[in-house]
Amino acid sequence: MTAVTKIEVAANSSARLFQDMWGIYRKVVDNNCLNHREAYAALRQLLRHQRPGFTFLDIACGDASFSAAALAGLPLGRYIGIDLSLPALDAAAANIADLPGASELRHGDFAEWLTVCEEPVDLAWIGLSLHHLPFERKLETMRHLRRLVGPAGTLLIYENTCRTLESRAGWMKRWDRQRKDFSAFSGLEWLLLTTHVHSMDHPETVSAWREIGHRAGFDHMREHYRSSSDLFRLFSFSA
Ligand SMILES: C[S@@+](CC[C@H](N)C(=O)[O-])C[C@H]1O[C@@H](n2cnc3c(N)ncnc32)[C@H](O)[C@@H]1O
Repeated sequence: MTAVTKIEVAANSSARLFQDMWGIYRKVVDNNCLNHREAYAALRQLLRHQRPGFTFLDIACGDASFSAAALAGLPLGRYIGIDLSLPALDAAAANIADLPGASELRHGDFAEWLTVCEEPVDLAWIGLSLHHLPFERKLETMRHLRRLVGPAGTLLIYENTCRTLESRAGWMKRWDRQRKDFSAFSGLEWLLLTTHVHSMDHPETVSAWREIGHRAGFDHMREHYRSSSDLFRLFSFSA
């Protein structure tokens, strides 16, 4: 077991919103409504090819439960997680405690932190968080990540993805049709979740994700997993 370093960085006003939603999100994950099990199994397959001592940056790590499971037993050198939610980070500290190497948890806004971060990483991972940003801010974030992973590193994302030519409104209609798959949720929980998704989420088409990756300096993009709802996909980006 290694010591976990907790570091405070600037947090913006969205922090409270994500903290309030954390309990409902945890229930979503426990019920596998967003296919965490399958997406993180795909992530683990990709991580198996990393060199011993690799550095893993977990952007918007949440409670890091699935990341820690994906990394278990692999020759990790360093784990860095950042998130806005303090309850999530408290849980993350326990979940990553058994990972080998050094571990750091940062409290703050990843978009702000990335503008000043100079630490190179082998692999950067974003699970269901980049879609909160509009197109230009996604691009800015991915440019910073391209700088951190360098020519040999990889960025992996599991994110909201529209079908070909589908609009944001079309994606939202498909999200809304999932009510029957959220039978474990009360009417109020479903309403809170869906209101959050409608106000915060900005999915992109595959070609838009490719364009963002290309403009950020990644020549190659590959799809590795698609959720059963076809609302989320896992892509890798490399130079
Ligand atoms: C949908 S959860 C994803 C958590 C985890 N990565 C996963 O795959 O389950 C979104 C997480 O992003 C965090 N978050 C959202 N915007 C953020 C930001 N700008 N900076 C840091 N964390 C952020 C929230 O606090 C929350 O933990």
